[in-house]
Amino acid sequence: MGEDTSDYERIGGGEAVRQVVGRFYELVLADPELADYFVGSDLVRLKRHQALLISQVLGGPAEYDGRALGAAHRGMGISSEHFGRVVVHLVAALREARVSEDIIGRVGDVLGGTKTEIVEA
Ligand code: HEM
Repeated sequence: MGEDTSDYERIGGGEAVRQVVGRFYELVLADPELADYFVGSDLVRLKRHQALLISQVLGGPAEYDGRALGAAHRGMGISSEHFGRVVVHLVAALREARVSEDIIGRVGDVLGGTKTEIVEA
């Protein structure tokens, strides 16, 4: 793969992203500290939006059409600790899929940068 290959292509494209996102929400929903946030959420729509967002972050197609992250999480009272747990589950899902640590680091930097939009409590 050349220098201009995106991280999205390196990890295996849309199918790989969908697998990671599926596993990510399994971990999140199995976490008793987090599951309650998702009661009543449309998980199909949520997974689709999360996959589009992560694809974009990885340098794949820029097709995210969900809400801005601040608006999507407003009023949930998400704490810094809960934000951290969500990131841990995403990193775990990426590791399970054998995504390389340099790519995980880049994703983590971008998502870590969204913290001030998402955390309220
Ligand atoms: C790494 C940081 C995070 C990212 C990148 C992220 C991303 C997203 C995206 C893309 C959506 C869909 C927005 C839409 O459909 O318009 C969403 C929705 C949601 N997020 Fe997050 N999120 C993050 C952290 C969190 C945390 C820490 C929690 C709770 C502890 C959380 C709970 C939710 C819930 C409950 C929804 C669904 C809202 C609904 O059903 O309307 N998210 N998030």
